[in-house]
Amino acid sequence: MSYYSEQFLNYLHSVYKKETPAGLYEPIDYLLNLGGKRIRPMLTLMATDLYQGKMKESLPAALSVELFHNFTLMHDDIMDEAPLRRGHKTVHTKWDINTGILSGDAMLVQAYQALEAYPNLLFGKLTRLLSQTAIEVCEGQQYDVDFESQNETTIDAYLEMIRLKTAVLVGCALKMGAYVAEKDEAEAQKIYDFGIFLGMAFQIQDDYLDAFGNPETFGKQVGGDIIENKKTILYHKALMMGSDDQKAQLKHWFKTSEAFSTEDKISAVKDHFLVTGAAEASQKLMQNYTQKAFNTLESLSLNHEASTVLIDFANQLMQRKF
Ligand code: IPE
Ligand code: IPE
Ligand code: MG
Ligand code: MG
Ligand code: MG
Repeated sequence: MSYYSEQFLNYLHSVYKKETPAGLYEPIDYLLNLGGKRIRPMLTLMATDLYQGKMKESLPAALSVELFHNFTLMHDDIMDEAPLRRGHKTVHTKWDINTGILSGDAMLVQAYQALEAYPNLLFGKLTRLLSQTAIEVCEGQQYDVDFESQNETTIDAYLEMIRLKTAVLVGCALKMGAYVAEKDEAEAQKIYDFGIFLGMAFQIQDDYLDAFGNPETFGKQVGGDIIENKKTILYHKALMMGSDDQKAQLKHWFKTSEAFSTEDKISAVKDHFLVTGAAEASQKLMQNYTQKAFNTLESLSLNHEASTVLIDFANQLMQRKF
């Protein structure tokens, strides 16, 4: 696993150059070098490698995916009013909102530019995939924001929202790797579907960690989703499993018109997630989606060893602390 991230980081550092104006590029540099798990570029390299393509040829696609991901984070942190990212100040708090908007925009353009390394036919395929993915991520982000002020969201609407905001990029990362390995559309679509289930499990775990992660290791503000009235998996499970009284209380805490003390709200809502069984149910759902991902592997034309690499990667991802 670390082999793929090492390959990616070497490439990232080799293509990196200091540019002016600093006000535009420093925040990009800052966010990209704060680290992160680099799971999406690793998946791109892994897909090419496991399909026995030339892994080095997928480095620009891996870079494109990581640039796109970091662009979404820069703008997401503005939208979510998040103070912390990867254990450090978010770009819009370290600089300002305008900086976050413009540097984010530039990263999106850089994500497309990274694909210019490919010959026309492959460039076309990769670009179309990235565009389809990018528009879906925007749709998911809009649902996520819309749901903040809606108390009657459904679990199905939630699942569609996380498919769009998170899972499609995981699928895209893998599918790009398959394209670089010259796999046909049918096969590329199969590894994409694996990525969709993996990405959904990943976002469910992200929701869980947002409330129950360790502030020392999580790297983001613990309780941030609760403060923002995010309709996470924990919220939906709590409404599905709680008594009428518990449901009413939870809805009260999530009323946007009320100004609660954040400390009180976070601790009351977390208690709620625990006593209703929502915390445990969310972990179970995360495991179900991981299993759904594994079930798709049988239909892929990968050998046993290659499937095992993907399974190990997914299992490590679901045990993460950040
Ligand atoms: C954060 O993604 C955004 C989500 C889709 C939950 P990651 O958890 O992969 O963030 P980094 O890149 O490792 O920091
Ligand atoms: C992740 O949603 C989706 C995107 C960034 C596109 P979150 O808002 O849950 O991501 P984090 O928790 O801030 O990383
Ligand atoms: Mg966020
Ligand atoms: Mg968000
Ligand atoms: Mg989150």
